[in-house]
Amino acid sequence: MTPTPAIPDPRPQADGGVDELREVIAGNLLAARERTRLLTESVDDTDLVRQHSPLMSPLVWDLAHIANQEELWLLRNVGGREPMHPEIDPLYDAFEHPRAERPTLPLLPPAEARAYAREVRGRVMDLLESAKFAGAPLVTDGFAYGMVAQHEQQHDETMLITHQLRRGAAALTASPPGPPPPDALLLPPEVLVAGGPFTMGTSTEPWALDNERPAHQVDLPAFYLDTTPVTNAAYQEFLADGGYDDPRWWTPEGWAHRQRAGLTAPHYWRRDGAAWIRDRFGVTEPVPPAEPVLHVSWYEADAYARWAGRRLPTEAEWEKAARFDPATGRSRRFPWGDEDPAADRANLGQQYLQPAPAGSYPGGAAPCGARQLIGDVWEWTSSDFLPYPGFRAWPYREYSEVFFGPEYKVMRGGSFAVGPVACRGTFRNWDYPIRRQIFSGFRTARDAAPAAPGQPGGE
Ligand code: AVJ
Ligand code: FE
Repeated sequence: MTPTPAIPDPRPQADGGVDELREVIAGNLLAARERTRLLTESVDDTDLVRQHSPLMSPLVWDLAHIANQEELWLLRNVGGREPMHPEIDPLYDAFEHPRAERPTLPLLPPAEARAYAREVRGRVMDLLESAKFAGAPLVTDGFAYGMVAQHEQQHDETMLITHQLRRGAAALTASPPGPPPPDALLLPPEVLVAGGPFTMGTSTEPWALDNERPAHQVDLPAFYLDTTPVTNAAYQEFLADGGYDDPRWWTPEGWAHRQRAGLTAPHYWRRDGAAWIRDRFGVTEPVPPAEPVLHVSWYEADAYARWAGRRLPTEAEWEKAARFDPATGRSRRFPWGDEDPAADRANLGQQYLQPAPAGSYPGGAAPCGARQLIGDVWEWTSSDFLPYPGFRAWPYREYSEVFFGPEYKVMRGGSFAVGPVACRGTFRNWDYPIRRQIFSGFRTARDAAPAAPGQPGGE
């Protein structure tokens, strides 16, 4: 078994000029590669080429796809180099072959995939040595390098999802996060976010992806938001109350899906007499009551919220709670401020193989008082994945634009499996409302009662 190492989290805020930016880039590329190595070397070659679920690629596909994208963006598009192996490009184009079909392709075997990744990375490090980060928009502020580091970390999360789907003895281990701070039990269940405008999205974050841009004003009425993500204990009350058998709580599509898929509890949960147990990275254990619920679909999150007399927050509400600082009127990069994530602020980067108990990370709290907005679990929102006003696809339509529309729901905040470089207050993730092999949870919201006419306040 391979222990999960602490993952360093250098970040793209390089104020010290070109050499510092070069170091930040090198640090992020290295951190991503160490994680990729852990994920692909903790199982044997048979496991690497096997498909553990039709929802996922074989791990060896992710490995060569990471290298192929790095070659495409950095060696070819930035460096102007010729393709190294043009014949393999179609195999690793995510749009040419759906995941279910990838094991039947003539993929590079593990040793060749590793050699390809090593070769590309060596040439990228050479290129980086003389990189100027100016001139072409693709390299301004090191954007393409940051995009590639984020891409590798995103596939590392995808590979961790595959590890969780994989059966057999544990391949990865990590110590559990510690207990929450003593005040966790005293936290108010919900926090108020005052009404009014705030800045959503960004036009200044150098490595923000196209769908996070541009910054724009959004005016919201006051609302209440759960202080922490919904816990397993709270979710079990929904189960015990027959929530999965009562169509009143579900949308028609959600109920149809619940019936068709035979959903009775979150993914990986099983009954053990009166108790609930779960499978987590090869270990079976009691469901921990204080931990945020994980592996629920949007339909389940939405049904729970309705049962609780509440609703999912909109994406804009989530971002305002996470970023808006009423003291200055500005939106911050993160709930705690503009500084990069650190181990005492958020559960990110696969340091642990699970979320931390609700109420953890007081150092990561937002001005509104909400905790764990960044890290732990991806949080479903009620919003469809749509472009912001003024959106421009950059640098390729296939990152975001082809996915815009009502069939995808937005998730915010990042999970314990998200690399710090791929996480910020503006970051948007999306998936189908039926998906739950992902590290998804949620928190709920409600409208704040509007002030009676002629009354002061109300926000
Ligand atoms: C943003 C997580 C939905 O994994 O499908 C990886 C990220 N895009 N390679 C995905 C991505 C291209 C994407 N998500
Ligand atoms: Fe990809």
